[in-house]
Amino acid sequence: MAHTARIFSGIKPTGHLTLGNYLGAIRQWVETDQHRADALFCVVDLHALTVDHDPARVRRLSRQAVTLLLAAGLDPERCTVFLQSHVDEHTRLAYLLECTATDGEMRRMIQYKEKVAREQAAGRSVRLSLLTYPVLMAADILAYGADEVPVGDDQAQHLELTRDLAVRFNQRYGPAFTVPRAVLPKVAARVMDLQDPTSKMGKSHAESSGIVYLLDEADVARRKVMRAVTDSGSEVTYDREAQPGVTNLLEILAACTGRQPLELAGAYASYGALKRDTADAVVELCRPVRERHAQLCADPSYVDEVLRAGAERARGLARPTVDAAYRAIGLMPPA
Ligand code: AMP
Ligand code: TRP
Repeated sequence: MAHTARIFSGIKPTGHLTLGNYLGAIRQWVETDQHRADALFCVVDLHALTVDHDPARVRRLSRQAVTLLLAAGLDPERCTVFLQSHVDEHTRLAYLLECTATDGEMRRMIQYKEKVAREQAAGRSVRLSLLTYPVLMAADILAYGADEVPVGDDQAQHLELTRDLAVRFNQRYGPAFTVPRAVLPKVAARVMDLQDPTSKMGKSHAESSGIVYLLDEADVARRKVMRAVTDSGSEVTYDREAQPGVTNLLEILAACTGRQPLELAGAYASYGALKRDTADAVVELCRPVRERHAQLCADPSYVDEVLRAGAERARGLARPTVDAAYRAIGLMPPA
């Protein structure tokens, strides 16, 4: 019998969801993944506790993220949508993977190094969970036997770690885990900040003028695109090194319209026209999501029910896999 692929992906409730999240991840989940596979999408709230956080804000952003995923088109009849903290198997498995990973490999994670630098620059201490975060992420994925993990480019290293841990565990203790692979989008795998096109458009950044949020009003989103930093010179060329600002706009426009960035570059003689068309495309892309989000907010019990059913299904899938890993590693089953 043909094996239906299992897909798992997650998103952190550390800020309002951005155009980068949408183009780099969510849109693939909605348009393809939920239709072609047994797909689980998780708002990974435990991951939001790895840096300085406000409890009420995490709670609010978790609900907002779930509501936005549904507004973007995830259909609970086709896929499983849930909150990470509702399923204990994630942290249960994370501990076994902490006993599989090494201190050295954790400290090599690029995102860890970047975030440590950011925390220290802000005079904050670094939480231990920031170091172990990729292990929890590996547990998220391995608990479900996921074959594929659709993520943006920034998660590629964490996926490599997940694969290494799965292989190592299987070699030591017997075949417990499916070895997953990352699936990256062809365009817009890394949407850059409009004000700083050499860094990722990230939802947790404090300075927001270069970040388009999915819930931005149309005029706000438009203004952000129109004020995007472009490069010196006046030719529109698709070249990440030489013209990072223009290239980012071309990628965004390409992702919104389904065209090729290189081909679009040839179609524009000026930055102004490129910005205008990109702004229009972004506004039109976000509008229906924002409208549907407002409708869903009016019915919180619907979202609650989606989460309840999602957690129940997720628990049922993860439990046997994690139990088997507990046995394999040498822990005695309860009598
Ligand atoms: P995060 O916001 O870090 O929880 O990321 C959720 C998903 O969105 C992950 O698959 C990321 O790779 C993806 N993502 C986040 N920011 C961007 C971006 N600027 N461009 C493309 N993908 C992104
Ligand atoms: N670490 C991911 C990010 O920052 C979020 C995440 C957590 C995730 N667990 C996951 C993504 C499992 C895919 C699969 O974007």
